[in-house]
Amino acid sequence: IPLRVSRRDLVFCLTALLIFCLGSVFYQLNGGAPKVLLDVGYYLGRFADGHGPLAPRALPFPSQVVYNRVGKCGSRTIVLLLRMLVDRHRFTLISSDIHNKTRLTKREQENLIRNISTTPQPFLYTRHVHFLNFSRFRTDEPVHINIIRDPINRFLSNYFFRRFGDWRGEENHVVRTPGMKDDERYLDMNTCILESYPECSNPRLFYIIPYFCGQHPQCREPGLWALETAKQNVLDHYLLVGVLEELEDVLLLLERLLPHFFSDVVNIYKSPEYRKLGNMTGTVRKQIPNLEALQVLYERMEYEYKFYNFVKAQFHLTKRKIGLRSDPKPSRPYSSVLQRKDLQEELEEEDTEDSLEWTEQT
Ligand SMILES: *[C@@H]1O[C@H](CO)[C@@H](O)[C@H](O)[C@H]1NC(C)=O
Ligand SMILES: *[C@@H]1O[C@H](CO)[C@@H](O)[C@H](O)[C@H]1NC(C)=O
Ligand SMILES: *[C@@H]1O[C@H](CO)[C@@H](O)[C@H](O)[C@H]1NC(C)=O
Ligand SMILES: *[C@@H]1O[C@H](CO)[C@@H](O)[C@H](O)[C@H]1NC(C)=O
Repeated sequence: IPLRVSRRDLVFCLTALLIFCLGSVFYQLNGGAPKVLLDVGYYLGRFADGHGPLAPRALPFPSQVVYNRVGKCGSRTIVLLLRMLVDRHRFTLISSDIHNKTRLTKREQENLIRNISTTPQPFLYTRHVHFLNFSRFRTDEPVHINIIRDPINRFLSNYFFRRFGDWRGEENHVVRTPGMKDDERYLDMNTCILESYPECSNPRLFYIIPYFCGQHPQCREPGLWALETAKQNVLDHYLLVGVLEELEDVLLLLERLLPHFFSDVVNIYKSPEYRKLGNMTGTVRKQIPNLEALQVLYERMEYEYKFYNFVKAQFHLTKRKIGLRSDPKPSRPYSSVLQRKDLQEELEEEDTEDSLEWTEQT
């Protein structure tokens, strides 16, 4: 059969081939392919495990990231690091300075979601706010990330932070909790817990779950519904929820999963420059409640601990998938309550900013 190809067809074919080759070379020079394949592998792994769909359009390079940071769980450390990364990787960083409004009316949700999603991409938006349902307002779903910590440690950290601020000194707490009377500021924590002051009881102890459950009023009622909704949202909408106790691994995973935002973060975190800055975030004047009070607290935080243990297990699963060694420290859900020396050490570790969270939420 005679093959009849016109000159025009031939030129067209060769041009197409050339463009394809150049495109491919350009792509690989940009360091794309291997990482893309890794990422695809990761997502496929997630699907295969039946962990629900992650927005496929976010595939290889998520360009919209929302970090709805939970109070007193290391978020100031992350924001500090992000500020150092933002010039290096050229993304838009919006760190809201509203610390005391985590739940919003429907109108406010709509406005905030519109605001977030019109930010120039790639962006990372962060604010203390309960999970926002982007699909409810027919908006592109961003990738979510977050960090939590042992619920009792978080509670203690916040208790003292509200009263005495952090390294910035005594004068600071006047700004943060101006209305606080001495009775409250010097309230003994054991009294607060054992005599069931509102600050040390539910619903205020139900704190972490609503960040993942969402804006529905039932999300703030301590119970199974909120717990299960929060867990499902973690599976469906969060790329990563880390635990502060393993912060370095959290940073490592962020570096792997969101390289366009976080690559190099571990180096920065370990650098002397950062250590100098990071040293300023510890909350001062910690006292540990007695054993009886700790037991009571633990029982009141039943759901919070269920959630925390779930998140920790997911986190370890992700670590294994990425090939990080799992669980460097012995896990200690309840043991942290019982081994007070342990607790003391942890309290002296990384600790962070915030917030008038409770001033508004009561
Ligand atoms: C909306 O986003 C811009 C930045 O894109 C920010 O400066 C502004 O404060 C945001 N407004 C609200 C209400 O969040
Ligand atoms: C988000 O909103 C949609 C539509 O209202 C609803 O079907 C879905 O269950 C909500 N998702 C979450 C996680 O609340
Ligand atoms: C951190 O601050 C404490 C107390 O101000 C100081 O003793 C310590 O040397 C500092 N550490 C670093 C690494 O700067
Ligand atoms: C939240 O904080 C801002 C200032 O940081 C303050 O003006 C505002 O009144 C606070 N809102 C509530 C409800 O406490």
